[in-house]
Amino acid sequence: MASNHSLNSRIIILECLVLVLSICLISSLYGISDPHLNLDYYKSTCPSVLEIVRKEMECACLSDPRNAALILRLHFHDCFVQGCDGSVLLEDTVTLQGEKKAANNKNALKGFRIIDRIKNRLESECPEVVSCADILTIAARDAVLLVGGPYWDVPLGRKDSIEAGYALADINLPTADEGLLSIISKFISQGLSVTDMVALSGSHTIGKARCVNFKKRIYGDFPMTTSLNPISQSYLKNLKSLCPPIGTESDNNETDMDYVTPNLFDNSYYHVLLRGEGLINSDQQLYSSFLGIQTKKLVEKYAADPIAFFEQFAESMVKLGNITNPKTYVNGEVRKTCRFVNT
Ligand code: HEM
Ligand SMILES: *[C@@H]1O[C@H](CO)[C@@H](O)[C@H](O)[C@H]1NC(C)=O
Ligand SMILES: *[C@@H]1O[C@H](CO)[C@@H](O)[C@H](O)[C@H]1NC(C)=O
Repeated sequence: MASNHSLNSRIIILECLVLVLSICLISSLYGISDPHLNLDYYKSTCPSVLEIVRKEMECACLSDPRNAALILRLHFHDCFVQGCDGSVLLEDTVTLQGEKKAANNKNALKGFRIIDRIKNRLESECPEVVSCADILTIAARDAVLLVGGPYWDVPLGRKDSIEAGYALADINLPTADEGLLSIISKFISQGLSVTDMVALSGSHTIGKARCVNFKKRIYGDFPMTTSLNPISQSYLKNLKSLCPPIGTESDNNETDMDYVTPNLFDNSYYHVLLRGEGLINSDQQLYSSFLGIQTKKLVEKYAADPIAFFEQFAESMVKLGNITNPKTYVNGEVRKTCRFVNT
């Protein structure tokens, strides 16, 4: 009883620490309300930009709803590495090391050809005007909307970087088996809150994960977080056959993160967490970690109230898109091709 009590107070102290840290960091961060961005940025220079992106995203998501997930994740991985600057799109060249081969991105990012297609259309409509970073931001909004998620207005005016952050990709991006406090601190150092983190994790209501990212979970605490109901049991059995405990041949076998409604952007992800059936450790710990007092409450809230989830998700996506590196406005550009800096 007594040791339980001291454990609880230690947890509370830890959470306070995280909170204080967050307040300090947020106030010192640039770009969280970026004065360079506005809703009318292309109004006179490329009035059809939103239409063109929407049309291409409609084609892409209609042909395969997975494409919505691919684009949404690309945008996230762009913004967490030197701000939303299109750096994730850059290929390796003799003079530039891109982010695509960083451990956190390798074999895990797709959808680049969709961005190429949008860029091509925009270059014929309004050449050298719309940045790749803006394309990705608009496309991510459209992706969410097209699979049933909320709408939000997208502030525009980002510039594309002339460099990439290979090392930063592994430092800044959260990973499947990372601890809750470590993931929270990564969001906080980007100017995002615990609430933003829990809402944005709702992205995992669409898309897939690979065996390598859920192996530890299914051979770890999965049976402890779920009840012994037959549906959870047979779900686990299927996961195990897709992803055997040893060997690496199955590392890239994929499965839906929200097995109930994998192609629909809804709040079903949070219901999956309430049942203890989250596919990856980073998801389930939002609800099940003894460190996650605040995150557990948020999971319960978004499970109970889909409108509250949509509203918070939209706001948090704008915040995610607002992360910018002030340096990009000094030496940034509008790339002609999203995969390469201008010569
Ligand atoms: C909270 C920390 C997060 C962690 C630890 C995390 C981790 C992961 C992992 C491990 C995967 C599976 C990748 C693979 O196996 O190839 C994944 C997929 C995905 N993530 Fe996250 N993620 C986080 C937050 C986010 C955020 C903030 C977004 C978007 C705003 C996002 C969007 C996605 C999407 C859409 C997919 C599916 C991609 C696909 O279908 O290929 N994630 N994430
Ligand atoms: C994002 O940046 C825009 C443009 O500066 C600003 O108007 C808006 O308040 C910011 N939004 C959030 C949620 O940070
Ligand atoms: C998983 O991957 C392995 C190796 O690529 C393959 O042989 C196996 O059939 C896959 N399992 C399923 C269920 O798709």
